[in-house]
Amino acid sequence: MKRAILAALGLATSLSVPAAATDIKVGLLLPFSGVYAALGNDIEAGFNLGLERFGDQTSAAFEVVREDTEVKPPVALGKAKKLILQDKVDVMVGIVSSGVLGAVRDMVHGAGVPLIVANAGNDEATGAACSPFITRMSFSNGQVNRPMGTWLHGQGVQKVYTLAPDYAAGRQMIDGFVQSFTAAGGEIVGQDFTPFQKTQDFGPYLAQAKASGADAVYVFYAGGEAISFVKQYDSFGLKTDLPLYGSGFLTSALYVDAEGPAAEGVVTALHYVPTIDNPANKAFAEAFTGATGRVPSEYAVHGYDAARALIEATKAGATDRASLANALRKVSFDGPRGTLSIDPATNNLVQPIYVYETVAGADGLTQTVLAELPAEKDPVNGCVMAPVSN
Ligand code: PHB
Repeated sequence: MKRAILAALGLATSLSVPAAATDIKVGLLLPFSGVYAALGNDIEAGFNLGLERFGDQTSAAFEVVREDTEVKPPVALGKAKKLILQDKVDVMVGIVSSGVLGAVRDMVHGAGVPLIVANAGNDEATGAACSPFITRMSFSNGQVNRPMGTWLHGQGVQKVYTLAPDYAAGRQMIDGFVQSFTAAGGEIVGQDFTPFQKTQDFGPYLAQAKASGADAVYVFYAGGEAISFVKQYDSFGLKTDLPLYGSGFLTSALYVDAEGPAAEGVVTALHYVPTIDNPANKAFAEAFTGATGRVPSEYAVHGYDAARALIEATKAGATDRASLANALRKVSFDGPRGTLSIDPATNNLVQPIYVYETVAGADGLTQTVLAELPAEKDPVNGCVMAPVSN
């Protein structure tokens, strides 16, 4: 009935398994417009594939109501309210931007609705602002960038200039890198935070980086901003004298082809690359490419693993908001990224980090893994995890 109403309103997509015992209503909260629209679409494609691939392992049926955050915190908050109060979803999945996650955190926590974070790395959401209702199946901003500070210094790089968009994720990604790079003995010779979603010309920032005396530049950019940045960096002629490093979103498989040869030789670190050599990744990559015609990105894998986590939770008997929240925190499986588990102290995912170089392959750009850095739990960062009674 619920499904029929939602379908009639054009709001729902529905994937069900035979003999369904429980209907679980899922609110998919993602950017389908704005600078991260492609990321939202890839997460959704991965999520739908995960429901299809693992759906027959549970007797639950899933109804999905999707809403567009537009990458705008106030818009996203309104959409989260609608999903929680009007649609009465049992669980929410999604959120790409750390700024959006910061904006909806109190609403999700106060309403007691489980949220599976399928991208946003906001450190506080699994730190001082942690919640038993928030479980992250993606990464934290610190987790992706901290290992790279130590690794890069180990490669002989001494002086670095950093650049990132001026919002929560940009600040936290750079902080994570700076902490470990300076602890290893490196020096930060300059930093800029560029206006988020507004910077089209990176030229003035690149000129400052060039004049800074740095050995290398370390950045976080993603989506449309990553494409512009990588192309402009190359056309400025900086790549040979001032090698470009960053978190691996910079050269994501989702849009590296749009960057083209400008991305060749850029070395970055991330929790997923499509060339990871394990059977779960091979099966995922084949199915994802079959369904979409694209090589899977980290965004696709977040969606796929979020669907799998939800299915694992329902297999464990969870049916409502509280039991889903409790079951999601205990999920563990071998997926395309390797062995995943949730740290019960923070609800953040524990996973290895891969340093990779973007190189020319037979069919366009591809990724060569240079190092696999061991999975580390994030510091607790002030998280006090309250229990939830079922
Ligand atoms: C974030 O805002 O947390 C964010 C956005 C895009 C990414 C990674 C992190 O690719």
